[in-house]
Amino acid sequence: MPAHTILFWVTLPVLLGVILYQIGLQTLLPASIHEYAGFKVFRSLFEDTHCYTSVTTLSSGLPNAECFSVSNGRFSRVFEYDLIKQDSSFDAVKDARAGHVYPGLWDGHGHLVQYGELLNSVNLFGSESMAEVQDRLVQYKADHPEEGTNQHWMRGVGWDQAKFNSNWPTTSDLEINEAFKGQYVMLDRVDVHCIWVSDKVLDLLPSPLPEVPAGGEIVAKGVFCDNAMEMVLEHYPKPGKDRKTKFVKDAMDELNKLGIVGMHDAGVVPSELMLYEELSDDKDWTVRVNAMIECDARNTFCPHDVKKFSTPNGKFHVRSVKLFGDGALGSWGSAMIDPYSDKETSTGSLLVNATVLSSLTHNWAAEGYQVNIHAIGDHANRLAVDAFEITLKLQCPEITKLKRCQQEKFRFRIEHAQIIHPDDQRRMFELGIIPSIQPTHATSDMGYAESRLGKQRTADEAYRMRSLLPLGPVLGSDFPVEPANIFEGMYAATTRRSPRTGLDLSGGKIGWYPEETLTVEDALKGFTTNPAYGAFLDGKAGVIQEGAWADWIVLDEPLEGLDLEDLRKVTVRETWVGGELVYQRPGH
Ligand SMILES: *[C@@H]1O[C@H](CO)[C@@H](O)[C@H](O)[C@H]1NC(C)=O
Ligand SMILES: [Zn+2]
Repeated sequence: MPAHTILFWVTLPVLLGVILYQIGLQTLLPASIHEYAGFKVFRSLFEDTHCYTSVTTLSSGLPNAECFSVSNGRFSRVFEYDLIKQDSSFDAVKDARAGHVYPGLWDGHGHLVQYGELLNSVNLFGSESMAEVQDRLVQYKADHPEEGTNQHWMRGVGWDQAKFNSNWPTTSDLEINEAFKGQYVMLDRVDVHCIWVSDKVLDLLPSPLPEVPAGGEIVAKGVFCDNAMEMVLEHYPKPGKDRKTKFVKDAMDELNKLGIVGMHDAGVVPSELMLYEELSDDKDWTVRVNAMIECDARNTFCPHDVKKFSTPNGKFHVRSVKLFGDGALGSWGSAMIDPYSDKETSTGSLLVNATVLSSLTHNWAAEGYQVNIHAIGDHANRLAVDAFEITLKLQCPEITKLKRCQQEKFRFRIEHAQIIHPDDQRRMFELGIIPSIQPTHATSDMGYAESRLGKQRTADEAYRMRSLLPLGPVLGSDFPVEPANIFEGMYAATTRRSPRTGLDLSGGKIGWYPEETLTVEDALKGFTTNPAYGAFLDGKAGVIQEGAWADWIVLDEPLEGLDLEDLRKVTVRETWVGGELVYQRPGH
């Protein structure tokens, strides 16, 4: 046989092997081949193996390990360190790296573009005086001279008139120096319920000012609150594609720093879905996004504007829809069965009636979409459960198997699920409806929740976590409404105390309704395996096991046994997405 023929027959199987391996077929090969020593050497060419002090996998097969191998962006094996000692083909792994590994974290409810927008605005949080606010504005303007035009207003958030001796700010406070003359500036109050604008922005409004809409107020020259904000916002030049792209990328950078590898984007309009799809192939798209569709007109049916799909790289997924039941508790906007305890003439307001909510839910479900309904008040939660029940009955032929149908086909969720009548909590259990909960909302709202709801309703219905645990609650932050830091969310869930102050409502350490606390382990599942399940990504995300995406974080200390007081201050050492290091804490 000529030499080149021999060479051909020797090279061909190797090449085929390489190709098969690269396209991920190694998991299909029989185990006996995996154990063949020659194969191991071969495999190590295409795998990266990582060992750490400990690896918490959240996988029932092997809950604790020290090492895993990654190939093609997925975990190809997870194993104990002892195995390496017996196997010479692992020479490449000289020593285990320090640190404790967990599956990469997921936020079950956030807003990506809005978070990026917040990062691209003046941070006024914590400023203690008007002088400090003005200093920060001047500093920001020096760093961003291009902002402040009529097409690109300077934005900021975090001021509080309580720090201005309780005087509302006015437009003249924004005439800080020469650089601020003629600038377009819009600054959100700390609770985003008022905006404070410059004279230039005010000039865009008709003069004299039209009547202020109901539920709104202009509290000072240039300060518009609640429903009056719309008078200004209709003139706000919405960010275009370039700026939205920057918002997305800045947001992802920041989320990676917090150990976040994936998020559920709770309301993405069709044009943004298209932008995401385009960007999700980029190297710096480093957070997996499961987007909930929001039609251009809220609470409508728009199947022709969207499609159900996942990108091949697993970085972007669309198969759910967001509907909106009601508003927020703070402004008495959430829809209640019985009147508010501190406003007895009001039961809040529904954004949609029961008939429309059910038919929308059913229409989307019939197209194969998961439906996620925003519901805060107990009336809105009841209508959400009604809509899901009606839909399941219509969609599932065997009425005795509604729960199974929900789990296998729909996984309907309630976003926020804040105040739920005991009857409806029972119905959620019967149907297996998934609550999507933001633990920091509980600690942010605890100051007024009981006066809105009264003692009994608060105790029986509000901000439940442990009571809903068997439903596999998806946990999130609702960033940018709350900080995106998941360890603060875990702290709020495990202590029912404010992650900012470390204290409960009465300034103590017992926690607000401490019977609703979660364990650290359950809170961790709420930010990993539960959001994976709630996005039909179970087995792929939130877990370290063969075949799952190779997303993990490294912490200095294990979470188990950590003093709860330290939980809110945890920072991550490394974040990995698809086997790539996307964040490393400086100094490591
Ligand atoms: C529900 O709302 C829709 C649309 O606003 C309206 O057409 C319909 O009459 C309402 N149904 C009931 C029962 O109020
Ligand atoms: Zn939200």
